[in-house]
Amino acid sequence: MSSEYPTFVTHLECGLTGERFEAGQVHGLSAVGRPLLVRYDLAALGAALDKERLAARAGGFWRYREFLPVTKTENVVDLGEVMTPIFPLPRLGKKLGLGPRGAVLVKDEGRLPTGSFKARGLALAVAMAKELGLRHLAMPTNGNAGAALAAYASRAGLRATVLCPDDTPEVNISEIELQGATVYRVNGLINDCGKIIGEGKAQAGWFDVSTLKEPYRIEGKKTMGLELAEQLGWELPDVIFYPTGGGTGLIGMWKAFAELEALGWIGSKRPRMVAVQATGCAPIVKAFEAGEEHAPVWENAHTAAAGIRVPVAVGDFLILRAVRESGGFAIAVDDDAIFAAQSAVAKEEGVLLCPEGAATYAAYEAALARGQVAPGDRVLLFNCATGLKYPMAPVSRRLDRHGPIDYAAFR
Ligand SMILES: Cc1ncc(COP(=O)(O)O)c(C=O)c1O
Repeated sequence: MSSEYPTFVTHLECGLTGERFEAGQVHGLSAVGRPLLVRYDLAALGAALDKERLAARAGGFWRYREFLPVTKTENVVDLGEVMTPIFPLPRLGKKLGLGPRGAVLVKDEGRLPTGSFKARGLALAVAMAKELGLRHLAMPTNGNAGAALAAYASRAGLRATVLCPDDTPEVNISEIELQGATVYRVNGLINDCGKIIGEGKAQAGWFDVSTLKEPYRIEGKKTMGLELAEQLGWELPDVIFYPTGGGTGLIGMWKAFAELEALGWIGSKRPRMVAVQATGCAPIVKAFEAGEEHAPVWENAHTAAAGIRVPVAVGDFLILRAVRESGGFAIAVDDDAIFAAQSAVAKEEGVLLCPEGAATYAAYEAALARGQVAPGDRVLLFNCATGLKYPMAPVSRRLDRHGPIDYAAFR
């Protein structure tokens, strides 16, 4: 990206109390320990950019520069991002008996650098860290976020330290280290790793880029909402199913839709936002059902869908608000349903979802059966990462080229 773009950030504010913070300074959480949201002069943004000018740009999420906080082009960290495709699952849609207007669509975020949607948030966090003069970033991760941090930090010439739960798949540990970060396994869950990062900030000299503990990952994730709106001709789907861990993407998309409406690029119609979790770790579902604004720590969290094994979310109230304001709901699915969904979508449609992405399909099926969504709804599922980085069922079938081959068995 060569040319300079105007930027429109006015200030930041606490998502809970609205307390104002100045732009252009290093920020973590607000005084009450809650996430900061970046605010823009949307009238000026709307005067500088229109849909036609945007449509003429190539590339991935950096094409939404005016909606983002990076002020200098030299701080943009680019790894060849693409606009991730949205495609239907027609065969499964037919099996599910969808009506004439109904559709089940997948947005495949596995096509991004490092193979997951974490690229969006970490690209922004790293670019802003570079802009603000930070040198050493640290975070807890269940895998994908650490890989994205490692890649974008290396690209930007910054140091990164990453802490992972003990049982994080080997491939994630290796990719993080290979892409230039220093990675440690910790005998605990992601929140235990996060505690070490938080407590060590002053002594270790690192800056904490944990989910929502700095203000810019959410701006990166916001581009999912901008992008899907543009791809769908500025007509939002009826329902979005989002695999919810820390919830950055759900909160980010909700923010994107508000900004687009303020610009007059979309109307007031919003998708119903559905937070999908696993039955072994469903703090948001529990809080949603109990009518609570916050979601206490989920004890003994377990699910094979590691990205949504997040026992506590600092932005819990923002997730719950978005879900409720949208008229959506929160739903949990068990690991058997997740792997059955992964297998069905792979076999019927040739699409290898990650377990977290498969959770959205399993949740969609369950919600359709319970009447929480209608066969006439246009539904968008998030496949947040490539299925290729996850362990898959072994296959033992063999042929002996020296022995007789039973060709009839292939029929
Ligand atoms: C594959 C995958 N899906 C979903 C999530 C949850 O994302 P969020 O923190 O935006 O809720 C993660 C986060 O680690 C992930 O790696």
